[in-house]
Amino acid sequence: MKILGIETSCDETGVAIYDGKSNSILSERLFSQVNLHAKFGGVIPELSSRDHVLKLLPLINSTIDSSGINEKCIDGISYTAGPGLRGPLLVGAVMAESLAKGWEIPFIGVNHMEAHLLVNLLENASLTFPFLTLLISGGHCLLIKANNIGSYQVLGETLDDAVGEAFDKVARLLGLVYPGGPSIEKLALQGNTGSIKLPRPMTTGKTKNLDFSFSGLKTAVLYALKNESKLTNAFKADLAASFQEAVADTLLIKCKWALEKTKLSQLVIGGGVAANSYIRDRLTHGLKKNKIFFPSLERCTDNGAMIAYTGFCKLMSGSFKDSKIRVRPKWSLSEI
Ligand code: KG4
Ligand code: ZN
Repeated sequence: MKILGIETSCDETGVAIYDGKSNSILSERLFSQVNLHAKFGGVIPELSSRDHVLKLLPLINSTIDSSGINEKCIDGISYTAGPGLRGPLLVGAVMAESLAKGWEIPFIGVNHMEAHLLVNLLENASLTFPFLTLLISGGHCLLIKANNIGSYQVLGETLDDAVGEAFDKVARLLGLVYPGGPSIEKLALQGNTGSIKLPRPMTTGKTKNLDFSFSGLKTAVLYALKNESKLTNAFKADLAASFQEAVADTLLIKCKWALEKTKLSQLVIGGGVAANSYIRDRLTHGLKKNKIFFPSLERCTDNGAMIAYTGFCKLMSGSFKDSKIRVRPKWSLSEI
């Protein structure tokens, strides 16, 4: 079975073809709108929708052209149905439905966060259910027990800002370019971790609560900036390094607690923030006794391959097939 996957939930137009027989991606294309949104310091939904409209069909054509198969060999189409921005989601959904109806093949809307989680199965043959997952992206911060495909238990989530959102907001405070995560990571390389004291939110309670909160950490960065008379580059680098360290420490503590509570030994980390090398290193060293799986860097951030693979898993399970498109800008993994 060969599945065409379409990702348009935010600011990346991603397309890929997954082949179940060879368990591989035959070809894929990605266009990032980062430059389009950079001057606004964040994603403008209307601009994003319009750009997906312009880029999606050429990317689909180019993905098929380079796959070594023609469109008649495609058995199904999957698209991101949510969570995400309504307009951008609709662009992908309408394209998926139009192509599927024209080619007389099934189509299915998949959950973007489930795709971030499942893509690890595509990349790691040794990963097996059940496993713990930490999903850290621009819109989410979730700790999940994955029991099987389609069976997820949310153990903890952010009460306010997502981790990526905190990176983006702190980057803006530091005057860095969007997206904030890679900018902070780069600046932090010149700074000293621990040089500025910052909180590790919700990590001291005896109850070992698995929820997260990052807005206080962001405010602590704001006060550190306000209290500093000379905002030198060296100070900003120290602040970036200290912030990154505080995030990594917080994630590490929560993962330890969740592994303890669930008695699971495998931990999968996914989502855009999982691309951060410092956080990868801290979690890998801090959780040495467990098996930790990170996606490859290009599979951390949004991509079409994770949608194609998730569509394959869903269509293979037989019970999922859509007759009309649906988009769900808010769609929790626990509702799958
Ligand atoms: O998963 P993703 O591509 O899109 C969403 O589903 O949200 O994640 C995007 C988020 C952004 O907030 C971005 O700043 C963050 O991931 N990010 C990073 C890094 N690369 C991307 N955060 C920290 N370090 C990075 N290297
Ligand atoms: Zn994502």
